[in-house]
Amino acid sequence: TCSIYLSRHGQSEYNACGKIGGDSNLSAMGEAYALKLADFADRIIAHDADSGDAQAVRLWTSSLLRTKNTARHIKHAKIKHDGKDWIQFAPRVLRNLDEIYAGVCDGMTYEEIQKTYPHEYEMRRQNKLAYRYPRGESYLDVIARLDPLIQELESYREDILIVGHQGVLRLIYAYFAGLDRDEAATLSIPLNTVIKLTPRTHDCIEERFLLHD
Ligand code: F6P
Repeated sequence: TCSIYLSRHGQSEYNACGKIGGDSNLSAMGEAYALKLADFADRIIAHDADSGDAQAVRLWTSSLLRTKNTARHIKHAKIKHDGKDWIQFAPRVLRNLDEIYAGVCDGMTYEEIQKTYPHEYEMRRQNKLAYRYPRGESYLDVIARLDPLIQELESYREDILIVGHQGVLRLIYAYFAGLDRDEAATLSIPLNTVIKLTPRTHDCIEERFLLHD
C-alpha cells in the first residue's frame, strides 16, 4: 500500500504574529520542526517505504519559502539499507500547492480584516468555501488548481510526503478522507503534526504523529 504523508510547514514568522499568507520565513520554532521532520522522514517514512520495496519517496513542497525551508534537511537524504537498497527523497516544488491567496487581505491578521473589510469578513464567515478574497482566491479556486495534483497522487504506487499549508492540506486531506467540501474549509490541520493517510478501496487509514521534543 502507498501512503500520503501530509505536513504543514514549521511555524512561520507570520504564523507567530497571526498574519495570513505572505512569504515569511520559519520562526525558531519552525526551524526546530524542520529538523524533527527530517528525522521523522529518515526513521519512519524511509523505513516504511523500504518495507514496501520503494526506491524513492516523493517529496512535494509549495513554491513558498516556509515549505521549502521546512523540507530542506530531507531533500537529499539517502539511506542505505543492508548495504543494497536506498531510499531517496525526490523533491519537487509546485506552485499549485501554494497557500490560498488572500488578495487584498494578504499579510493582515483576522482582526485587521474584520476592521478594514467588515463586509468581506462577514461574507467569508457565511460561505467560506465559495468566498473569494478580492483579487485573491476562494477554496473552490484552490480545489480547481489542486485537481491535477490529486489525479497524479491517485496514480502513484509510491509513498509521498507533502509539505504544504493549512488551506491546501485541508482540501487534500478531505479528498482522501472522503469528507465533504463544506467540511473541508473549516477543518483544522495542526502545526507540528504529520498525518499519514493510506487510502484503501472503500476507506482510508489515518495515523497522526505529533513531532515534539
Ligand atoms: O494562518 C495560516 C494560513 O495558512 C494562512 O496563510 C491562510 O490564509 C489560512 O491559514 C487559511 O485558513 P483559513 O481559510 O481558515 O483562514
